[in-house]
Amino acid sequence: MSSILHDWTDTHTASFQKAVMTFEHKLEETGLFSDDALEDLLERHPHNMLDVCTMGSEDHPVYPNKFRTGDFRGVPAKALIDAAKAGKVWINVRRAMNIHDDYRAVLDRMYGDLAEATGNRAYNANGGILISSPVARVPYHFDKTETILWHVRGRKDLYLWPVSQKYIPDTAHESILTNLLEDDLPYTAEFEADATVLELQPGQAATWPLNSPHRVDNRTFCVSVTTEYSTRESAMKNSAMMTNSALRRYLKMNPLYENDGAISRRLKSVAGRVIRRTPLAPDTTQPDMVTFRVDPDVEGFVVDTAPVERSF
Ligand SMILES: [Fe+2]
Repeated sequence: MSSILHDWTDTHTASFQKAVMTFEHKLEETGLFSDDALEDLLERHPHNMLDVCTMGSEDHPVYPNKFRTGDFRGVPAKALIDAAKAGKVWINVRRAMNIHDDYRAVLDRMYGDLAEATGNRAYNANGGILISSPVARVPYHFDKTETILWHVRGRKDLYLWPVSQKYIPDTAHESILTNLLEDDLPYTAEFEADATVLELQPGQAATWPLNSPHRVDNRTFCVSVTTEYSTRESAMKNSAMMTNSALRRYLKMNPLYENDGAISRRLKSVAGRVIRRTPLAPDTTQPDMVTFRVDPDVEGFVVDTAPVERSF
């Protein structure tokens, strides 16, 4: 079977997970990302693993374009794809690459090929499929684990920032660690001038150093795959920052992960794995509120509704 990766070189291996980089892939050739294939996928994907979102106000000073959760129940799969083409909608078919055997086989190839190309071990990755509108935007956020965005169809611009206190303060990182649904970071338009911008083409994947803040602006209807996987580095950092969070909260200290040496990080990481399971690290996940429904009979496909907690 041919590789999913295309033209991978030693330069890619040297940059992988260390720098902002792009590489080419052949996911579209699998046939699993056509409209027909995605319709079939949406028909069989469990409701509780599907997110259909729209964007909040782009004028919000700190959290522009924040995602809102939508009710898509009763909407045929084809209409959901139509909504992504003509509306203001962002669909995440969560863990689609893990749950369904045909997609799972491709995910195994993606990570098998990466392992072979980089010499790393094959990571146990989660993979979701993003189907999103020409006007969709992903707000400024970071990912808690290593992430690769495998862009398949359409055009989108990816904006990335360095990992520093200015763009991702430790306090923001720590508070997101105890929240299962949140990964948005405080943003200001002043950041724009400092962004690295990747104009992603179909068949191009992007990856970046762990935790780099980023946001996305679609240019057309887009289909992408997003994969995430824990590494020893990401697991150690998250656990150590859990300890820092407790030191900050209970001992009024002001620790910074970047100031800790290797031994300190390791000790804090061990402590953090314990703290995570105690009331010292309370779960701060807010209820997921549904504030609109998808309606194929309405222009834009989005109808605002009174907020109710998600139950599906
Ligand atoms: Fe992300």
